[in-house]
Amino acid sequence: MFYIHIFLLLLVQYSYGDVSQRVFPEGFKFGVATAAYQIEGAWNEDGKSENIWDHATHENPEWIDGKTNADVTCDSYHKFKEDVKLMKDLGVNFYRFSISWTRVLPDAVEGSKLNEKGVAYYNNLIDELIANGIEPYVTIFHWDTPQSLETHGGWLNDTIIDNYVYYARQLFISYGDRVKKWITFNEPQQICEQGYETAQKAPFLKLHGVGDYQCFHNVVRAHGKIYRIYDKEFRPVQGGEIGITADAVYAFPKTNSVSDQMAAEQFIEFYYGWFIHPIMIGNYPPIVIERVDELSKQEGRVTSRLPKFTEEEIDMIKGSSDFLGLNHYTTILATFGDPDSFPNPSHDRDCGVLTSRDPSWKPSAAPWLYEVPTGFYHLLLWIKEHYNNPRVIITETGWAGSGEELDDPDRVQYIRNYLSELLKAIYDDGCNVIGYTIWSLMDNFEWTYGYTNKFGLTYIDFEDPNRTRIPRTSYKVYQKIISTRRLISD
Ligand code: NOJ
Repeated sequence: MFYIHIFLLLLVQYSYGDVSQRVFPEGFKFGVATAAYQIEGAWNEDGKSENIWDHATHENPEWIDGKTNADVTCDSYHKFKEDVKLMKDLGVNFYRFSISWTRVLPDAVEGSKLNEKGVAYYNNLIDELIANGIEPYVTIFHWDTPQSLETHGGWLNDTIIDNYVYYARQLFISYGDRVKKWITFNEPQQICEQGYETAQKAPFLKLHGVGDYQCFHNVVRAHGKIYRIYDKEFRPVQGGEIGITADAVYAFPKTNSVSDQMAAEQFIEFYYGWFIHPIMIGNYPPIVIERVDELSKQEGRVTSRLPKFTEEEIDMIKGSSDFLGLNHYTTILATFGDPDSFPNPSHDRDCGVLTSRDPSWKPSAAPWLYEVPTGFYHLLLWIKEHYNNPRVIITETGWAGSGEELDDPDRVQYIRNYLSELLKAIYDDGCNVIGYTIWSLMDNFEWTYGYTNKFGLTYIDFEDPNRTRIPRTSYKVYQKIISTRRLISD
């Protein structure tokens, strides 16, 4: 027994012990993240108009676990000072939050009037953060498309590009004197794939194999356009940075076979390269172009389901991110599947890869989220190799629990193990990662999972009218990691 114990200790020491001696590099920043719809509440207060999540949760409550919505959620619209105090005590360097389009511009379209009270809310939040030494990182769009634009096709209609550009410009004008980090879009995959292809997110459309490509084509052109505007008109005066955040699931080959290795690579190109290749290299990844064009031909279409960029658009989009925002939670195993096993047409069929999980991976309360720290490490290497070691900010990572518990050892272990792999990637492999963000500061509305998946470092009882925030063990552990800048064990 004694020897087994010593052996286990050595094993732990070997895998993580030396890492715990490493100090996070100078200038490396720690933060927490939230998003407007998930935490603010006040869905129709002070002039805010309806967005697609307000609309969907009110019209079709049955699409959401427990038929819940975010009409009130954490009530951060009224309690933001408490949130800032929580972050101040936590010791974070920055707070990543999003702005609600329909709160600042209720009519949403180009040329429409700003809603003073909505603008004031974010002014107050930003001022409170800065007064407490916390840097604001602002996500311009985190999935809450104005419902008035959705009725005209939302991200499928390219007129949304100029409306988005107008909205983003108003944010630079209103807040750019104090906000120096902008994120144009959060997770295009969820906006487009889940919103317009698989109906897992608002606006809940099932336009298999078509809607997602059209949507992203507009998202990435809006991104490129606003990047160039910021660069030319605002950066010289405001001196900030602007980038995009995409989510990436890493893929290990299911077996060591060459075929499975190709499947893993193909999966990453189809579910991550699709968004980032146009920005880092120019145009969609060759494998994506080839396969979607070829399958479209086989389906008897005259044009490909994958829209084409003009040369000017390729140039506008290429190099349009000062940093790469990365949301990473989990990993899958990849192997090629029989084309008939996928809906036809579909993005999954275009990719052609079947996914599974290793039985040894620890599941969380979210059905898609398993703890695989080594996947995180390999993803960072993949990004370094494929995109010439860009500056990466981890803009989200986190663990889902389901209960009311204040003691959350699984989340603590996830954070420690993922940070361990991050330190390894920085020190052993020279990956240029400059910041790390935990999703989330507090429990909040987790989209179609309602309040059943809890990601918070802080617990909230959603039955409690005060929405009292109670820090969990993971909050205290993160606090210690930030203050010591190491992964020291307790
Ligand atoms: C991704 C999203 O950005 C966020 O809105 C969501 O709640 C978390 N990941 C957890 O699923």
